[in-house]
Amino acid sequence: MEQQLQLLKEEALTKIENAISVKELNDVRVSYLGKKGPITDLLKGMGKLPAEERPKMGALVNVVRESVTESLEARMILLEEQAINEQLAKEAIDVTLPGRPVQTGNHHPLTRVVDEIEDFFISMGYEIAEGPEVEKDYYNFEALNLPKGHPARDMQDSFYISEDVLLRTHTSPVQARTMEAKGGEAIKIICPGKVYRRDSDDATHSHQFTQIEGLVVGENITMSDLKGTLDLFAKKMFGEEREIRLRPSFFPFTEPSVEMDISCFKCGGDGCNVCKKTGWIEILGAGMVHPNVLRMAGYDPSAVTGFAFGMGPERIAMLRYGVEDIRHFYTNDIRFISQFHRSEA
Ligand code: DAH
Repeated sequence: MEQQLQLLKEEALTKIENAISVKELNDVRVSYLGKKGPITDLLKGMGKLPAEERPKMGALVNVVRESVTESLEARMILLEEQAINEQLAKEAIDVTLPGRPVQTGNHHPLTRVVDEIEDFFISMGYEIAEGPEVEKDYYNFEALNLPKGHPARDMQDSFYISEDVLLRTHTSPVQARTMEAKGGEAIKIICPGKVYRRDSDDATHSHQFTQIEGLVVGENITMSDLKGTLDLFAKKMFGEEREIRLRPSFFPFTEPSVEMDISCFKCGGDGCNVCKKTGWIEILGAGMVHPNVLRMAGYDPSAVTGFAFGMGPERIAMLRYGVEDIRHFYTNDIRFISQFHRSEA
């Protein structure tokens, strides 16, 4: 029996030594020291031994049990420590690694151009005015000297919602609304906003686009005020060396009406693909507010005069950034938008 005990001990100690995980070691503990283990069995079998041998054998079994327990505990501490170290190594964070870059947004090129135009006019004392995109036929056309049946209405194919309501085809109705609201006072406003036309979309047309309207009304406002304002504007947007030229044109709400060209900023006037070999680039429409428009809005055309202009920021952005298709502004392709960096503005 003594020999058996010795063998058991050696076997247990080898298994403890060979256990490489906490779980394995626990299994060894249960198999040797558990209720059904061989050491417990031996203790249970003591009753069968002659009385004089029992104390000696009992002491021996206890020694074996203690030595197995001790080496189990020692091994357990080691394996637990190892497990913790492994876990720590796995979860280690390298604080010296560079961070993942956060993608920053850009201002949309159109927003950028609109902001810049607004800033310019605000610096000249203008205020920003707004009007509804779903507009009455009255403000979109009639109050602008375009009565029902006027042929010039055909120039702006419209989305009608009812007979008297439509999506505004230009920002000019804000002129009429502002004049009506101001009841005869002097006015100096620009109105940026979305407009809608029943056009087929292609590289230069969109059913929805942006316009910026300008209106100045007061005593002694003349064509030279308009010209001076537009000249400054052209220089601010397209460079100090720009010259402007005004060509006679027609709009029902202005008389006289003009179209403003700027000298080509690419070739300086020699002729290139941007100015289509003419040396000039058309930028906007303008004119002196028609007496009928003033009168309909409650102003006395013999006491006050005004000038107005209207432009398309998409066109300005296309010219400035060399964008060849107007649809790029609306499709929100990140590869397009991310080309316009904040620092450039
Ligand atoms: N409303 C015109 C258009 O959409 C643009 C325009 C031209 C506005 C001349 C004006 C102006 O205020 O004076 O084509």
